Amino acid sequence: MFQMKSLHPLIGVEIQGVSLSAPLDEGTFSRIVEAFERHSLLLFRDQAISDAQQLEFSRRFGPLERTKPGTVGEGSELVILTNVAADGAIVPETHRQWLNTRANQLWHSDSSFKPTPALASLLSGREVPVEGGETEFASMRAVWNALPAALQARVDGLVAIHDYAWSRGRIDPELMTDAEREALPPVRQAMVRRHPVTGEASLYAGSHASGVEGMAPEAGRALLSELMEFATRREFVHTHRWRRGDLLVWDNRCTLHRGRPFPASQRRYLVRTTVAGTGPTVGALPENRDADPDFPE
Ligand code: OGA
Ligand code: MN
Repeated sequence: MFQMKSLHPLIGVEIQGVSLSAPLDEGTFSRIVEAFERHSLLLFRDQAISDAQQLEFSRRFGPLERTKPGTVGEGSELVILTNVAADGAIVPETHRQWLNTRANQLWHSDSSFKPTPALASLLSGREVPVEGGETEFASMRAVWNALPAALQARVDGLVAIHDYAWSRGRIDPELMTDAEREALPPVRQAMVRRHPVTGEASLYAGSHASGVEGMAPEAGRALLSELMEFATRREFVHTHRWRRGDLLVWDNRCTLHRGRPFPASQRRYLVRTTVAGTGPTVGALPENRDADPDFPE
């Protein structure tokens, strides 16, 4: 029986009574979509799904992004987030996979560095640490509603520059390959987004945001830090403690998320599918006007 259980007063529901290893009927899927639009984060427990089943369920939400150059699973529709190498061993702590793990520990919204950022992400816990390695989510609608009116007025209408090289540079300046740098020039994103279904406004920023258009670099970064400090207060955050077989679905338009650290001795293997957004949040940068908004990740 389809049942929903709240995860946090501001964000997230667990959906029970649904198996994702068989195709879902229209009625059940539309209840899932309704819950997604409204609660921004869904948890399905005990879903021992294959990649093919995850892809099939994910595609019901819309076309999927392709993995960007330089990641495990490059060019496919699966993003593998793991510290485990192909031979099954945990990679050394200096390995790119660990650096990517650390980069995901900064608050962000998936693909906000692309002209058309991601709509939703689906993340499946195939192997999870017994200790640490949680994923945290913040409701950016709740954050927007709670922001002091003066700050809302300052931010409304602003455009932030989102730059993958910037967020990766905070972890390791060498983390980005030349191919990635070339494929992912900075993009403009609205700082306030309106949810197309609920109409609610939410703050849009995160680790990829390197500055604010029309502001001096330091002033832009100061504003972004002030907003991020506010947005990630405990009251807005739900912490997901992984169990093997969990599947999370989140709305990148109105949430931020981050991974949490875990001991280097523990294996973690998560598989993500990413539902593409429907269009840019603002027009492209003038110098970027030839950029293809459909450029796959
Ligand atoms: C992601 C992500 C964080 C984590 O899958 O997009 O940022 O906890 N994951 O691994
Ligand atoms: Mn992410």
